[in-house]
Amino acid sequence: MDIANNGKGQLLYKKAKSIIPGGTQLLSKRPEMFLPDYWPAYYSKAKGCKIWDLDGNEYIDVSYMGIGANVLGYANDEVDNAAKEAINNGGMSTLNAPEEVYLAQKLIELHPWAGGVRYAKAGGEALALATRIARAYTKKDIILFCGYHGWHDWYLAANLSNKDALDDLHIPGLEPLGVPKGLSGTNMPFHYNNIDEFNALMEKHKGNIAAVVIEPIRNKYPLDGFLQKIRTATKSEGIVLIFDEVSAGFRLCAGGSHNVLGVNPDIAVFAKGMTNGYPLTAIVGKHDVMDSAQGTFISSTFYTERIAFAATLKSIEVYEREKVWEKQSEYGRLIQAGWRKKADEAGLDIEIGGILPMSHFSINGKENSLVYKTFITQEMLKRGYLASNSFYTSSAHSVEIIEKYLDDIGEVFKMIARLNCEKISVESQLKGGVCQSGFGRLN
Ligand SMILES: Cc1ncc(COP(=O)(O)O)c(C=O)c1O
Repeated sequence: MDIANNGKGQLLYKKAKSIIPGGTQLLSKRPEMFLPDYWPAYYSKAKGCKIWDLDGNEYIDVSYMGIGANVLGYANDEVDNAAKEAINNGGMSTLNAPEEVYLAQKLIELHPWAGGVRYAKAGGEALALATRIARAYTKKDIILFCGYHGWHDWYLAANLSNKDALDDLHIPGLEPLGVPKGLSGTNMPFHYNNIDEFNALMEKHKGNIAAVVIEPIRNKYPLDGFLQKIRTATKSEGIVLIFDEVSAGFRLCAGGSHNVLGVNPDIAVFAKGMTNGYPLTAIVGKHDVMDSAQGTFISSTFYTERIAFAATLKSIEVYEREKVWEKQSEYGRLIQAGWRKKADEAGLDIEIGGILPMSHFSINGKENSLVYKTFITQEMLKRGYLASNSFYTSSAHSVEIIEKYLDDIGEVFKMIARLNCEKISVESQLKGGVCQSGFGRLN
């Protein structure tokens, strides 16, 4: 397939950038993050692991599957039929949706340490809610955190006192513009598996810490009892431990990754792993901690709509019935081993990371790794794939699809090796610019 920069998607995106600041609502969906000027940008239809663009071109998604939101594949029939039934019976009314209670029961059944559940619509928003509850419960302000947890003031405040605080924990270039300066000093970052850094912050802010927020797992496995040590320290100080399961939840098992890692938090936040694309997030916590939500005002009309509750209940049912986590890890293992083999065959130096269902790689060479990443996306697009340097697995993929994908990406690896050998820069072979990483203005 030839690729062109005058497809309907790119034309619409140019329009979008003039009337939607930033072009899209999610940084990770910006076409510049993939293939500047050539990424198809918009879809007309998505089904299973296939996506059709506005020109009718068909692609296999071997990248982010709805940025991690479609573990069961796109337009899953069972989940969508549950949503349609909810629509047919009224997605909204003055009375509450019973599915709200059924889902809370299900989440508590999956996390027996918990006794209360609240809901929101987005992952970052749910983290903001969780930190509010923790601050209400402890009547303290400071939050220690590790990793990415959304766009809200409590989080971006980290860059007020140190403008680079979020550079390596999330992305560089985040100006805390619009975040009240009064929040400076209310949250402090630490790095995964660095228990000394964590202990030093605990000591420095002793008596003033409301919560510790961390993804239990993402790119690396916890070492030397890292999570257990955090659990012990927070428990003895009466600090609320919040596990952000937005991305890791419902990928290694039915429920939080902490169920596999053997450490229970006080609050766990679930989002895109559990809903198969419907907008719903859950804040699941110990009963007494969650009870503090009664004393601080958290209330929103659309938190009560029925469709996402119905879809999420069905999504969890399918996930459990088909033991989807087993498939996700099996595919991830195949992908990681395949990348390694194909890179070795081409003679490329590759680094591979991530938990199996959310694997990624980076090529080390003379040029910037983003150049290689962009080239791979460009050449794989020609072969009918939406590809990046990450592969989020779903139950809609198959061994057959993955093996063909590995053969195709192996060919692209060989193209890079050939260019290297002939001393031709890979960047010179890009039709558009190098893809963006991090946060930058688009105009
Ligand atoms: C660990 C983690 N926390 C929070 C978020 C933010 O979630 P959302 O994009 O739904 O606001 C994400 C999104 O990728 C995430 O991976």
